[in-house]
Amino acid sequence: MKNTLQQFKQDILRQLEEVADISLLQELEKKYLGRKGELTLLLKEIGNLPATERKETGKLANEIRAEIKQKLIEIKSAFAKAPADKQFFDATLPGKKIEAGHLHPLTLVQRELEKIFSSMGFMILEGPELESDYYNFEALNIPKTHPARDMQDTFYIEGHADLVMRTQTSNMQVRAMEKYGAPLRCAVIGATYRHEATDMSHEHSFCQIENLVVDKGISLANLVGILKTMFSGLYRQEVNVRLRPGYFPFVEPGLEAEMSCIFCGGKGCSVCKKTGWLEMGGAGLVHPNVLKYGGVDPKKYQGLAFGFGIERMAMLKYGINDIRLFRGGDLHFLTQFSS
Ligand code: DAH
Repeated sequence: MKNTLQQFKQDILRQLEEVADISLLQELEKKYLGRKGELTLLLKEIGNLPATERKETGKLANEIRAEIKQKLIEIKSAFAKAPADKQFFDATLPGKKIEAGHLHPLTLVQRELEKIFSSMGFMILEGPELESDYYNFEALNIPKTHPARDMQDTFYIEGHADLVMRTQTSNMQVRAMEKYGAPLRCAVIGATYRHEATDMSHEHSFCQIENLVVDKGISLANLVGILKTMFSGLYRQEVNVRLRPGYFPFVEPGLEAEMSCIFCGGKGCSVCKKTGWLEMGGAGLVHPNVLKYGGVDPKKYQGLAFGFGIERMAMLKYGINDIRLFRGGDLHFLTQFSS
């Protein structure tokens, strides 16, 4: 009996040494140590031995079983620690997808606009978000007491009454003219801020695109042409543009720019409130005072300018109905815009 036990031990240990993966190991464990395992059955037979042999054989059997169990534990932990390439690898299983990052919908729209305007020869500028009262208001024909300031209340900086978080990317009009002079073509894209109660279509932080063209003989025909090119490129369909009178202190005439509804083609639907037109933003011919602030002679040069909200453009492009989603950080929303 003792010999049989020793033989068993040798056999089992040899097989354990050679085992190549965890499932084979489990099979061996069951074969020898399971409830009906070969070693288990052998140990049961010890009870039938004559009393003289029983004690010693029983002791040996217990030692052997303990040794084998210990070996099993060692091999199992070695499998767990083994580098992935040493472990059994089933090449037929479906692979794990590595999630790639993707761009935010506002970045996607920003990049499209940059492409469209670069192709028309516009410089792409950003400008400071913390701006002086001068460039944000004063140099745009909005003096301290002007009522137009009411509509653009913003965040002021404690101890710096002359600094504001910019309320509009128009802050770059005079900066660009000062730096580059005339003629000039630039598109400014970036963040803007207003002291605003948030709702489905208002945010305190949002993005704008502002375009400025300064050249000789600039007219509203140039404005309409540029707007049509921008909207048709962004929405990938031919659109019409209509201008209505509007008031902005830094342009004369000031205009509200509208685009024919991209959902109904101008026939009238619920999105355009049956008008066939969508309001997109402000535009106009640059006020002579603003040209002067920029160091440009209004007798020699004229300018056109327009400013639009990037969120509104993106909401129409992707069918988004709540502006707060853009900065809500909800991945269910954000991961829908991979291209
Ligand atoms: N900056 C204006 C706003 O945020 C929009 C605007 C209106 C820009 C008329 C312009 C313009 O360039 O000509 O409300």
